[in-house]
Amino acid sequence: WILMVTARAPTNIAVIKYWGKRDEKLILPINDSISFTLDPDHLSATTTVAVSPSFTSDRMWLNGKEVSLGGERYQNCLREIRSRGNDVVDEKNGIVIRKEDWQRLHLHIASYNNFPTAAGLASSAAGFACLVYSLAKLMDVKEKYQGELTAIARRGSGSACRSLYGGVVKWQMGKETDGSDSIAVQLATEKHWEELVILVAVVSSRQKETSSTTGMSQSVETSELLRHRSQEVVPKRVLQMEEAIANRDFGSFAKITCADSNQFHAVCLDTSPPIFYMNDTSHRIINCVERWNRSEGTPQVAYTFDAGPNAVMYAPNRKVAGLLLQRLLFYFPPDSSKTFSSYVIGDTSI
Ligand code: DP6
Repeated sequence: WILMVTARAPTNIAVIKYWGKRDEKLILPINDSISFTLDPDHLSATTTVAVSPSFTSDRMWLNGKEVSLGGERYQNCLREIRSRGNDVVDEKNGIVIRKEDWQRLHLHIASYNNFPTAAGLASSAAGFACLVYSLAKLMDVKEKYQGELTAIARRGSGSACRSLYGGVVKWQMGKETDGSDSIAVQLATEKHWEELVILVAVVSSRQKETSSTTGMSQSVETSELLRHRSQEVVPKRVLQMEEAIANRDFGSFAKITCADSNQFHAVCLDTSPPIFYMNDTSHRIINCVERWNRSEGTPQVAYTFDAGPNAVMYAPNRKVAGLLLQRLLFYFPPDSSKTFSSYVIGDTSI
């Protein structure tokens, strides 16, 4: 017999960035972060997990290619979920799995991303959230406390903990040394700010040179600005952001979002050796948005960039999103030689 579960998880885009760990093994952050989870039709991971007595080892395929499950992050997620497995009985097919069986039964995992891996579009966030969720369903794991699954997804990739919920999500850094209170909580459902439109401009789909993991570890070691940011700036900003979101105050939301993205990239420059995630195209997009916002006297759209050159833009409604697209098309005429499904603005990698 074989028992399977399939799940889908979207990626999330942070408006208050997570950058820096206080514990690299447990993946505990140095500040809170806030993100919006995208709708699952775009930028999501789909994962099927299967268990069968005929499997002789744990195996995983990513976009059809076998990958190693030997890494510490995968092992931590698998161990944490397995130890919480419950009895699963499928009477129709005569399948009985006892909770202790999860320790010896092997798993096959197949995961697909519908967007470029490691291009700075947080594929690991969707991937680990989806892995943890589908395994938890397969093994009928019940949360002992709200957010327990998010703490397990966090062991795969920090930002993954925020992708287990839809809408607006906060990752609370927590205080405990064992990480039990470093969990994600939902601040608002996807219904709260339905008019908001998120637009992704794929500037480059090339793999980034410095992974987030390596980059943030170098920043923690060398950037004084990061210390200031995590201790002085983010705690206040998180409160302001929560208020802006609660009131659907787009002006404040946009100002804080852009400021936080810019400070995160300033921290990258303050790192030794400096890390450059944005390129010329990214800078031109910032200019284009800043000029538009200034000419209107009030923010029309917000931009934010993760560990890569791609721009994520937030517009207050479809009408403004349409105007934004018109502007982008004017400044960055589409290149017919590119065949990406999303709108690609050049491919001028640094
Ligand atoms: C810039 O979650 O990818 O996207 O915890 O080491 O796996 P690890 O890092 P990761 O870092 C994401 C950083 C970011 C900001 C954010 O999503 O908050």
